[in-house]
Parts: sequence; C-alpha cells; structure tokens
Amino acid sequence: MNILTSFAYLVAAVLFILGLKLLSSPRTARKGNITGAMGMLLAIVVTMLDRNILDYTFIIAGLVAGGSIGAFLAYKVEMTAMPQMVGLLNGFGGAASTLVAYAEYLKMTAREGGMAAGTTGDVWVTVSLSVLIGTITFTGSMVAFLKLQGLMKSAPVLYKMQKQINAVMFLATVALAVMFVLDPTDPLPLIAIIALSAVLGVTTVIPIGGADMPVVISLLNSYSGLAAAMTGFVINNSVLIVSGTLVGTSGLILTNIMCRAMNRSIFNVLFAGVGADYEGAVTESVERTVVRYTPDDAAFILENAQSIIIVPGYGLAVAQAQHVLQEIATLLSADGRTVRYAIHPVAGRMPGHMNVLLAEANVPYDLLMEMDQINDDFQSTDVALVVGANDVVNPAARSKKESPLYGMPILNVDQAQTVMVLKRSLNPGFAGEDNDLFYDKKTMMVFGDAKGTLTNLLQILKK
Ligand code: TAP
Repeated sequence: MNILTSFAYLVAAVLFILGLKLLSSPRTARKGNITGAMGMLLAIVVTMLDRNILDYTFIIAGLVAGGSIGAFLAYKVEMTAMPQMVGLLNGFGGAASTLVAYAEYLKMTAREGGMAAGTTGDVWVTVSLSVLIGTITFTGSMVAFLKLQGLMKSAPVLYKMQKQINAVMFLATVALAVMFVLDPTDPLPLIAIIALSAVLGVTTVIPIGGADMPVVISLLNSYSGLAAAMTGFVINNSVLIVSGTLVGTSGLILTNIMCRAMNRSIFNVLFAGVGADYEGAVTESVERTVVRYTPDDAAFILENAQSIIIVPGYGLAVAQAQHVLQEIATLLSADGRTVRYAIHPVAGRMPGHMNVLLAEANVPYDLLMEMDQINDDFQSTDVALVVGANDVVNPAARSKKESPLYGMPILNVDQAQTVMVLKRSLNPGFAGEDNDLFYDKKTMMVFGDAKGTLTNLLQILKK
C-alpha cells in the first residue's frame, strides 16, 4: 500500500468520524449522512485504483446491480418500513463479510499448492471470527426482517431449554474455531462454523418479540460492523477495520440508548421473551366507557388554549399527517399561542423517527423538545395534543408491575389541563397494553385517521 493510499484512507476515516458527529443532531444530520457517504466513496475509489485489479467487469457489474437495487429500495421504502430495510442491509453486510473471509481463506490455502507461507495464527482467528459473526448477523437479520415485515409471527418463539441449547451451540462454534486455527488446512471446521452460526442467528433472534426488533436490529448492526472489522484484518485493509469498528461501537451505543429509554437491560431484551404470554389488559376496557369528541370540539378547546404541547407517535407516521399537523401548529402559534413538540426517545419505530418525520414537514428544530427538557412543563400546559402516540404516554408504565411497559419513563401528558388524543380506536399500542389515559375525565378522544381528523381540524380553525 503506498503512502497516498494510506493518506486517502486516513481522510476517509476522518470523514466517517465527522459524519457520525454531525449525525448526532437533527440540524446537522443530513450533512453527516453526506460526509459519511463521501468518505465511503473515497475509500472505494482508492481501493479500486490501488489494488492490482486485472478485470473490472464483475466489480462494475456488482456496483451497478447493487447500487441500483439499493437506490431503488431507499427511494421506494416507506418511512415506517425503515427498520426492516436497515435489518436487511445489516444482514447483507454480514453475509458479505463471511463471503470475503471465506474467499480469502480459499485464496490463501490455494497458494503454492498448500498453505501460504508465513500466514500466522492470528489470520485464522480473524477468518473464523469474521465468518462466525458475519453469518449470525446474516441469518439473525433475516429473521428480524421477516418479523417486522409481517412475513413471520412477531411473537417470541420459545421452547424448552432454549437458552441452554443456544449456549451449547455457541460453545461448539468456539471449539470448531479452535480446531480450525490449529489446523487451517482442513476446511471442514470452517464450513461447520458457518452452518452452526447460521442456525444460531435464527435461534437467538426467534425468542425475541417483534416490539423489541428495532433494538435487535441496532445490535445486529453493531455485529455487522464487527464482522467487517474482522474481515478488514483478514484482507489487511485499514479503512475497513476503522469503518467496521465505528459501525460496531456506534451500534452498541445506540442499542444502549434504546434500552435505557425503555428502562430495560439488553439481557432483558435478548432473553426475557417479552410479549410471549402477555395478553395486556385490553379486556378490562370492555367495562369502561370513553366520550367521543369531534374535531369541532377539539378546535374550540385549542382556540381557547394558551399553551399546547404536541406529542407525536407512531400513528402520525402511519397516517403521514406531519404536514397538516405542522400547518395547524403554525396557525395556532401565529395567534400568540405557545406550541411545542415533546419527543419521546422511543416514539415511533426507530431511533429519531419523530425527528425525521417532523423535519420532513419543516418543523423548526427549536420547537422539538426532548422528554427531559419538557416533562415538567405539562403541569403548566393547557392542552397536550397526542397524535397517534400510545405507549409513550401510557400511565401503566408508572404503576402496573406486570405490564411490559413498566418502568419506561413516559411523557407526563396527564398533568396537562386537557389531554386530546387523536387515534382511530381504543386499540393498544406496540406493547399491547391498554391505556388508562383514554378513560381519564380530562381526556378528549377524537377518533379517526390522524390525517383526516387533523385536516378537518385545520379547516375549522381556518374558518
Ligand atoms: P404505539 O404505542 O405503537 O401507538 C401508536 C398508536 O397509533 C396506536 O395505538 C394506533 O391506535 C395509532 N394509530 C395507528 N395508525 C393510526 C392512524 N392512521 N391515525 C391515527 N392513529 C393511528 O406508538 P408510540 O406511542 O409511538 O410508542 C412506540 C412503541 O414502539 C413503544 O412501545 C416503543 O417501546 C416501541 N419501540 C420503539 C422503538 C423506537 S427506537 N422508536 C424501538 C422498539 C420499540 P389505533 O389503531 O387505535 O389508531
């Protein structure tokens, strides 16, 4: 590798790190995305020029095919389907690491009719780690994709001795890796590692419920980075080691943030089988009644309010009502009312979901308040307008020990003077837990698709 290549790789690594830094705020996230992409483009171009490539046909065919499919999917995919798309991409990243590491192994063993001279044990360690982590990431991500896409039952699949069987399989892969490192001329242990890891990827993800899948995807994202970093060691490519490590660590940090926001540990997410038997308390609601309000009633209350906090949730994304919501907020604040948005860290279905959604509708960033910033303000607020949110405002998280939501910090909407909830029915949210807030005397339920209701409301307010 010449000095220019090393320098270009260093610049690419700096761009990746800068990109990550910029991604940490909604204001700079777009710039961060482009900065990271520029780093990757530089790394690819330099690698293509630096290597002794005899024939570009397959590389160009791969770039065109993969690039077009990726661009098409990114363009087409609904915002709400983003987690499974990311899951799919992680899976392909893992599969790529396995394939590159295995191809490199074949190349090394084919040299001079046997083992490449001077190949040391550490290379074999990284080859086995690369295929192990890469294959687990691939099959695990496929299961996560199928669950989120609704092509597979999203409830946890549990069976007897599940954890023990998984542990035995994992130990067996470690033993196979040791066998492989001791005698790399025999490809069988490596093939067995791939087969066993493929099974492990499936058996470790099926016991996790659909609601926890975004956390699993973030963790698998981290694995795909680690697999890439291992492959970087195998093919001796520093920029792959750096980018893989960055993906690995940032994925872990994100997993940790998501777990903390739900007040769960990663062990609870991975091993507790949350959502298996829990039926929620939906049946309780049969006995209770709620009062149905109309958009006219809602408009009257909003017109007479001075301070309003909007709480967006997954339903806002489903209804694609962010633009009309933004119009209403602008209209209300033009008349001197204080209108802000309260963003719960796990509202929606992916990290930053609400920020992205509201940014799409050009909501000014300084109106978006994080939970800790705004939670104390609900008590001095006239109206909490909950649009398509449910779990993130469910008081069961505070008091109901058997609930899957128990312990999760929620937005204190029930402390506002009036709570207005816009959703289609009394159906529970992702966690399957009935919501006492809907039956509270101060709550106005305005049923209907959020976009329809808000469009009505806007027309009434304009009049
Ligand atoms: P949810 O609790 O899932 O509730 C969304 C509500 O939106 C539903 O109750 C649904 O009620 C309503 N809705 C759906 N379509 C609608 C439409 N077209 N118009 C109006 N309302 C509609 O959402 P949330 O409060 O945002 O909470 C997020 C949940 O996802 C949490 O449990 C969280 O832990 C989980 N989760 C999130 C993440 C991340 S990172 N964001 C990751 C993993 C898990 P109706 O059917 O009655 O309309």
